[in-house]
Amino acid sequence: MSHESFPTENPAVVTCGLPYANGDLHIGHLRTYVGGDVYARALRKLGQRTAFVSGSDMHGTPVAINADQEGVTPEEFALDWHETYERTFPRFNVEFDNYGHTHDETNAELTRSIVRTLVENGHVYEKEIQVAYDPENDQYLPDRYVEGTCPYCGETARGDECDEGCGRHLEPGEIEDPVSIVTGDPAEYRTRTHKFFRVSEFQEYLSAFIDRLEGTSNARNQPREWIEGELRDWCITRDMDWGIDYPDGESDLVLYVWVDAPIEYISSTKQYSERVGTDAFDWEEAWREQPGTPPGANGEIVHVIGRDIIQHHTVFWPAMLEGAGYTEPRAVMASGFITLNGKGFSTSRNRAVWADEYLDEGFHPDLLRYYLATNGGFQQDVDFSWDRFRERTNNELVGTVGNFLYRSMLFAQRNYGGTPDADLSAEVRDRIEDAMEAFTDAVNDYSVREAGNAAVRLAQFGNEYIQRNEPWKLTDDDPEAAAQVIRDCVQIAKAVAILFEPVAPDKCERLWADLNEDGSVHDVTLDAALEAPAADFGEPTELFETIPEERVGELNEKLQERIAETEAASESEAAGDTAEVVDELEPLADERVSFDEFEELDIRVGEILDAEGVEGADKLAKLTVDVGLEERQIVAGIKQLHDLDSLPGKRVVVLVNLETAELFGVESDGMVLAAGEEADLLTTHGDARPGEKIR
Ligand code: MF3
Ligand code: ZN
Repeated sequence: MSHESFPTENPAVVTCGLPYANGDLHIGHLRTYVGGDVYARALRKLGQRTAFVSGSDMHGTPVAINADQEGVTPEEFALDWHETYERTFPRFNVEFDNYGHTHDETNAELTRSIVRTLVENGHVYEKEIQVAYDPENDQYLPDRYVEGTCPYCGETARGDECDEGCGRHLEPGEIEDPVSIVTGDPAEYRTRTHKFFRVSEFQEYLSAFIDRLEGTSNARNQPREWIEGELRDWCITRDMDWGIDYPDGESDLVLYVWVDAPIEYISSTKQYSERVGTDAFDWEEAWREQPGTPPGANGEIVHVIGRDIIQHHTVFWPAMLEGAGYTEPRAVMASGFITLNGKGFSTSRNRAVWADEYLDEGFHPDLLRYYLATNGGFQQDVDFSWDRFRERTNNELVGTVGNFLYRSMLFAQRNYGGTPDADLSAEVRDRIEDAMEAFTDAVNDYSVREAGNAAVRLAQFGNEYIQRNEPWKLTDDDPEAAAQVIRDCVQIAKAVAILFEPVAPDKCERLWADLNEDGSVHDVTLDAALEAPAADFGEPTELFETIPEERVGELNEKLQERIAETEAASESEAAGDTAEVVDELEPLADERVSFDEFEELDIRVGEILDAEGVEGADKLAKLTVDVGLEERQIVAGIKQLHDLDSLPGKRVVVLVNLETAELFGVESDGMVLAAGEEADLLTTHGDARPGEKIR
């Protein structure tokens, strides 16, 4: 079954992945929220009835562990961050219709009710499993309380997910060599009885679901491997105090955070309905599956998330919704990550541009929105640098959009006191219609970037149009022709205000007022782009300001200083405690290997020819390496730690006769040797050529 294009008669719900209420937001986090907000606004521009909701994710170990470290209760800690987020999003014009949190009564009640329904429908069973336990602290170690080795790919992983390697969700008891993060000691495994959700029963449903799922291609393709492989049941309870109690009135378990978190999407919509009334928006019409309708025939649910949580949104969550009688997602839009000057953001290293900091520097939020929404496709990784930020602001926002609007509106105001009396030309009408169509297609393609570009391209056309027609030369000789050109330009300005509103809502509201239009640009739909502009308006404001080059120098310096300071601080901490550093080194192996065994390893000098990221994997890079006799494609876990552009030309050391493997669907033929956590790449120091054997 394929979905009808937007706009449809159904209510739509656009959601953003719930941020864990556990720390400061940086501009990398904002990508999903800006993307979701742009998308929700764009849907409304098409006339689609839309609720835009999210909330803070209050439970789980990501919150409990940070609260422990601060010595406060998880509730206090999470509420504090929740309030911060609630204030921060609107400052970036991310305007949720409802922003709740998972610990409020609406969500607790709905979660209990959904879990009870799953139990009644026979989707939940009990099983004994091995759970990590810290004997010294007398504490169970769910999820992130434990670290160890991923059983699937061998990377270091946390108890609930292989965050550095293959990206898989890990079930309790799966992680190997578990170590308690509380004491640093090896954990024991103890037997406990837990509740399981029978995901495996939904295989057929999920296979069909994934075929009709829309959104970005990463979210539609990546899950196939999981769904078509062996679907494992999902442990939905944890040995913790912080969370929503498992609703049978007796157990001392809480629900796994990933049960109650996505349910907040529904709870938040419900709170919105309760506030505005069900006539304005009925949450049940959006979320309850109407008996007798095919799957997905009710609300249009669009989840906007980071790509690290695709599995939760395309496997567990739809199975839960199906099992409890709620509407499945129509689309999942999974964003790529953001790097800063080519390297990953790092909260602990203070390698970040913080959300508040950006605003404190005096930059308008719409500039960042434009950058985040259009600098790359939504699912691509995007690099942020102040240089690029300045370049895009100055060239595109000031040079193209601002310039067109200001010159044409000023000309209109000076010469005609507003819109000259003439009819819209066929050429310009067509061009605006094209832009409206491009915008509509972008929404149906889930492309935030193309939705934003539709307006910028129209403004660019506006500049060419005014340049080509030179109305300033026509005012005396051919006043009618001059009036015609300017009439057209004002129409383009009005269309830009509407088409660009999703990306730059505040700037476009200003433009709307400058055009002396009634009401708010937030409330009008696309068709208004072709309606006659107001006859009179005053002198326009310059919407965007140029960022001078010195600003960028200052900002880069500040950032570098801060990173250096934090690094120096952590180095001096480490140096103060060398014993600890030695402690952390793995002990030397006792077991000896024979020379023959060593000889079996074919290790060669290689030269990196090309390096690119692997789609869907945060840390993996796909390298093309010249090993003398041939070129090899090798996948290496180094992406986070190296600037990929700087790798071509580097000499490395390659194990060429390692068994081939497939990582994230990419074949890896060999292994590049590297030292330590930071993947310090081994190299040669003389002029050994690629292909030379290492012995
Ligand atoms: N808090 C989770 C994270 O940051 C996301 C939860 S999204 C929801 O990874 F689906 F559970 F809502
Ligand atoms: Zn793994």
